[in-house]
Amino acid sequence: MKTILVTGGAGFIGSHTCVELLQNGYRICVVDNFCNSSPATLDAIHEITGKYFPSYNCDLIDEKALAQVFQEEKIDAVIHFAGLKAVGESVQKPTLYYRNNVTGTLNLLEQMEQNGVRRLVFSSSATVYGENNPIPYKEDMPTGQTTNPYGTTKAMIEQILRDLCQSDSRWSTMLLRYFNPIGAHPSGLIGEDPNGIPNNLMPYIMRVAQGTLPYLNIFGNDYPTKDGTGVRDYIHVCDLAVGHVKALNALFAQEGASVYNLGTGQGSSVLEVVKTFEQESGVPVPYQFAPRRAGDLPEYFADASKAMQELGWQAQFTLADMCRDSWNFIKMKSPSERELVAK
Ligand code: NAD
Ligand code: UFG
Repeated sequence: MKTILVTGGAGFIGSHTCVELLQNGYRICVVDNFCNSSPATLDAIHEITGKYFPSYNCDLIDEKALAQVFQEEKIDAVIHFAGLKAVGESVQKPTLYYRNNVTGTLNLLEQMEQNGVRRLVFSSSATVYGENNPIPYKEDMPTGQTTNPYGTTKAMIEQILRDLCQSDSRWSTMLLRYFNPIGAHPSGLIGEDPNGIPNNLMPYIMRVAQGTLPYLNIFGNDYPTKDGTGVRDYIHVCDLAVGHVKALNALFAQEGASVYNLGTGQGSSVLEVVKTFEQESGVPVPYQFAPRRAGDLPEYFADASKAMQELGWQAQFTLADMCRDSWNFIKMKSPSERELVAK
């Protein structure tokens, strides 16, 4: 049985991927410093899968602690989710982002090299396509015209990984460019619930539906899109998790660096997301139109055909599934709901 080190395994996408790995015959160990997650998520992964696994409260910046993990575990490959991801914060605190994301990755790669572990799946982002590419985005389009330090860390790490594979044929990496992950595990035990006021659309809709925030600001209704609001390729986090397992399986049989979009290939507008959520939950989401958000693009979505042809992966869940599962997770977090479900 192969052992996969999952960095950032307590986070939103990492936790769902841990479940999928455990359910597909992989052994895992998790490294996370819990700067944007909680150890309780690891208990929830155990609750869903019935499987135990080792975890380390370790910051990738801490080289000694990371070296200790590689001494204790016999690792076959790494899936690297750990990183900071708030676009706005990255503009305010660029050095924090370069240090955490780029230096953290370099530390990880050095430990991998020293221990002869040379297979890595990396969490990249559609943001690397920048502002100038036509839609849908295809993997062979030029990248790197990023508009914020967060996106630049992703483009830089992609380049580092390509250089590494070029320098030594024993290295093999998968660069996975995610579009907009939402949804939650159908159990309602793991999902996304950021601290503070959310930046992203679905967590914000959840707060409005819960009554914690009064209304949603829809940033722009005059874009050249189907209804004037921004269009994105929303993908269920469980589909994304399956994509990682498919990519990992292929990683063991490939050489060099490969890149795949993980999206559905379908664009949905902000208004479509709001309406679909209302239909699925039965809960109204008051909204008002607000000015465009700086840095937002009008519309983008994936050309998802390469992952289908080469990995045999295709997203299965609909936008309605994503809205239902996001809401189920938020409802399950309230103690009264959990008691009801338990009865
Ligand atoms: P998340 O914040 O929920 O998960 C990231 C995890 O990494 C957290 O548990 C955090 O505590 C941990 N972490 C951060 N820095 C660390 C460090 N230095 N050492 C150890 N642990 C550290 O985010 P997510 O949504 O699950 O995203 C996972 C990855 O996917 C990130 O790299 C993110 O940039 C990328 N990504 C996310 C999205 C998205 O919209 N969610 C889109 C594209 C790419
Ligand atoms: N939006 C609103 N109101 C809100 C929040 C968002 O109208 O309160 C709109 C945005 O303007 C955009 C859409 O909803 O049109 C999606 O916005 P998100 O903030 O949810 O997501 P982004 O597409 O801006 O970016 C996300 C991640 C990035 C990642 C990118 C990959 O935040 O880190 O997806 O496609 F790089």
